[in-house]
Amino acid sequence: MGRNREVPHLYEKLAQSLAQAIASGALRPGDRLPSVRGFASQRRVSVATVLQAYLHLENDGLVEVRPKSGHFVRRRHLPAPAEPRLLKGPSAPGKVAVSTGVAALRESMRDAAVVPLGSAVIDPSLLPIRALNARLASIAREMSTAGAAYDAPPGLPGLRRQLARRSVGWGLALHEDEFLTTLGGMEALNLSLRATTRPGDTVAVETPTYFGVLQAIEDLGLRAVEIPSRPREGMDLDALESSLKLSPVKAVVAMPTVSNPLGCTMSDADKERLVKLLARRDLPLIEDDVYGELSFDGTRPRPAKAWDDGGRVLLCGSISKTLAPGYRVGWLSAGRYTEVVRRLKFSSTVANPTLPQLAVAEFLASGGYDRHLRRLRAQLYAQVDRTGEAIAATFPSGTRVSAPSGGFVLWLELPAQVDAYALQARALEKKVAIAPGPIFSARGRYKNCIRLSCGLPWSPRVENALAVVGELATLLAGTARKSA
Ligand SMILES: Cc1ncc(COP(=O)(O)O)c(C=O)c1O
Repeated sequence: MGRNREVPHLYEKLAQSLAQAIASGALRPGDRLPSVRGFASQRRVSVATVLQAYLHLENDGLVEVRPKSGHFVRRRHLPAPAEPRLLKGPSAPGKVAVSTGVAALRESMRDAAVVPLGSAVIDPSLLPIRALNARLASIAREMSTAGAAYDAPPGLPGLRRQLARRSVGWGLALHEDEFLTTLGGMEALNLSLRATTRPGDTVAVETPTYFGVLQAIEDLGLRAVEIPSRPREGMDLDALESSLKLSPVKAVVAMPTVSNPLGCTMSDADKERLVKLLARRDLPLIEDDVYGELSFDGTRPRPAKAWDDGGRVLLCGSISKTLAPGYRVGWLSAGRYTEVVRRLKFSSTVANPTLPQLAVAEFLASGGYDRHLRRLRAQLYAQVDRTGEAIAATFPSGTRVSAPSGGFVLWLELPAQVDAYALQARALEKKVAIAPGPIFSARGRYKNCIRLSCGLPWSPRVENALAVVGELATLLAGTARKSA
């Protein structure tokens, strides 16, 4: 074409300016690049030029494409800390006692001066709270009687309609009558445990697992067997199988999609195996799917319930990790336990407040939810990544960190000398909350582990809080600080 190759193409210039933005830190790992169309019109170039620039950056390893989500700045290849070492075999059944350990964390949630790295809460600035509140206000204004009457189980039809519609995207196609609305995912879990067990029964749980599940088990007078979770693949099904032969398990609680605290997601094959394994023994699976929409790869993994043809899976979800935890809107699709959970809901909390359900139903119907989820996932991915970098820089050598497939928490195994409760107490003195490892175990394991939340946008306050925890951990470990 007779073109002088010394003169860069337009797409090369574009790629160069983006590469500079990445190098300067204006764009950080996990940040989403502008949309192709938006960037093209902003820079007054063709869509093809932008696409070529993005491809160029991709070939250079600076950018990655995530299906259905867009182009993102690639994670920097830090020397990845090793993943935590976890238990090998199942435990024997035993009592659960985590509530004392959880108390300090609960107390810290009320103190606005504390940097909340302990609770899995997303900063309100990342959530469409204003839009949701505006809907709630206009519903309250326009419908003078809205919210005044009991909304008896199974809960608001309009919300269940929206959940049924969304469930198609989860690969489930549940009917609205299959949903019960609940006070968050926590009530769904409690109702599921009550519907499937009696006090004294044994429940199998992953380890480590969300302390809320363990608290519910403790409060209902149940016993637990711990089934090890593999760092990336989730519950070890061989261990579960051998445990089911040995222990009189009455129900299994699992988080097959984006677990808490490890952030792992089971493969479809393992989800199917889990459901079939329990079906052969006619056992219920309580599936905690609260983080199901927050997978980093932009897809919505199917819940294990997608393989349930006997109504044995009780699917628990909520909007707490994606919209507004304070609205306390959750749901339960309980299969063959539908009638029992409706009865239990009525006898315990009677009904959900109506107004939040109406506002959430309208919000889900409005079509803005999926757009919000795409943005949120990208933002959380970036925050998890930055937190990982800060840990690599300031935590003691030998620290091992999880590699979550989604969500916004990191699980850390610290050097053996570090006592997580001592670290929690010292960090709280400096107004930083962390979640100590032992509350994620029925047996108080993980004494040298902690969970850190990455739900806050990156800021000097977060950076300092992490540095405080890293320094205290280094002090407790009695080792020199790791140099990044
Ligand atoms: C794994 C898991 N399940 C359930 C819940 C409870 O959710 P909700 O706030 O909707 O009750 C949480 C909250 O942190 C969680 O992390």
